[in-house]
Amino acid sequence: MPVDLVFHNAKIYTPEGLVEAGLAIDEGRIFKIAKETNLPQASTKMDLKGHIVLPGLIDPHAHLRDQQLAYKEDFFSGTAAAAAGGVTLAIDMPNNKPVTMDAQSLRERMKLAETKAVVNVAFYSAFPENLEEMRKIVKEGAVAFKLFLSQKIGGLDPVDDEALLRAFNEAGIRRVPVAVHAEDKETLENKRKEMQQAGRDNVEAYLTVHSTNAETRAIQRMVQLAEKSHFHIHFCHVSSAAGLDIVLAAKRMGLTVTCEVTPHHLLLSSKRLKRHGTMAIMNPPLRTEEDIKELWSALKQGSIDALASDHAPHTIEEKEAKSVWDVKPGIPGLETMLPLLLTQVNKGRLTIPDLVRLTSENPAEIFHLKGRGGLGEGYYADLVVVDMRREYRIESSRFYSKAKYSPFDGWKVKGKPIKTFVNGQLVMDEGEVVAKPGVGKIIRREGEPQK
Ligand code: DOR
Ligand code: ZN
Ligand code: ZN
Repeated sequence: MPVDLVFHNAKIYTPEGLVEAGLAIDEGRIFKIAKETNLPQASTKMDLKGHIVLPGLIDPHAHLRDQQLAYKEDFFSGTAAAAAGGVTLAIDMPNNKPVTMDAQSLRERMKLAETKAVVNVAFYSAFPENLEEMRKIVKEGAVAFKLFLSQKIGGLDPVDDEALLRAFNEAGIRRVPVAVHAEDKETLENKRKEMQQAGRDNVEAYLTVHSTNAETRAIQRMVQLAEKSHFHIHFCHVSSAAGLDIVLAAKRMGLTVTCEVTPHHLLLSSKRLKRHGTMAIMNPPLRTEEDIKELWSALKQGSIDALASDHAPHTIEEKEAKSVWDVKPGIPGLETMLPLLLTQVNKGRLTIPDLVRLTSENPAEIFHLKGRGGLGEGYYADLVVVDMRREYRIESSRFYSKAKYSPFDGWKVKGKPIKTFVNGQLVMDEGEVVAKPGVGKIIRREGEPQK
């Protein structure tokens, strides 16, 4: 019996480096990686013309919206953006309408995504009010919990240490990571009042509110809680040198801590806000050149665990609100992440093994996504083919995301995802999404037995 698909004339990523080989796919999984003469017969053969095959990206941080926020993004447009960007699995954030915060709301999102997604989707849940519900949420298949310290989203008051500790304990027992948006609510609220009373209303005032101090306070507080209990804490989008220092110190103390950074925090400084204005507002916001340097240096030393897009789509009207205090924070990132990172590889600032570790291997490990995040026999065939030499400009007007704006608009990039495969099926070809809605699978946590 022939296998479904064989690539030939490819360079395949392996932990030992790129090898010239072929790759056979059968029933959605990688069947064999070998020299071409050793590959089985296939129903379809594809000549990859010497291009590189990498594991598809696993984006640990995407706001795919839909439901009552479908005017910003829905599971089709968001996962089409992912496919276009070489992302084969996106983990969806819970700050939706309704908020994902119990088994019922999670089930509803899964049901909707199942019919629309063109890449795989896993889900975060916010914490429920009643911690009993956590067991059901994990049983339903959430891969992690998400806590916003900047505002109350879900059932827990983010300033209540004891409530948080109880929830973290419960997550620890179930071996489910807790991802945290680390900006301190009280710090934000006090500064915001101060600014508004002084009649300040511009991006500088916004940056004053969303200070590094708001980030460090929140991270510090979480580390203190982590010392009291055993759970896995994952810091989302670490943006400042000072914040990162606390995260790294916690790691050195032996706490179970991981962290992610975003391409925008690595590549754009707050000076950009002068040019892009409110379009480039996101939380946490862009920081200084010194912060950027420190993020890169930690990245090179291997102290950062993952890269994440923090794809956070809004409408242009929401981004251009009259008052800065009404502007919705966030930018789309699924379509720009990989081209931006490949450009950095071409510039010699990142290696392919670093890229794969940060965008596939580590996210799979952090969120316990079995059989994904690597290219090995038996792994799911979630792959991206990249042309390292292709140069082009980012054009946000052509995004699959409904959010057709980007601070990277017009940037020249070198390195392009040219084919994306999800569960062995071609979903993007030469920038065009060719999959039917529903090809993407819902990835549920396959956990230890539930108590
Ligand atoms: O910039 C952001 N956008 N930060 C968040 O914490 C939320 C996100 C969103 O959902 O738009
Ligand atoms: Zn966040
Ligand atoms: Zn986010």
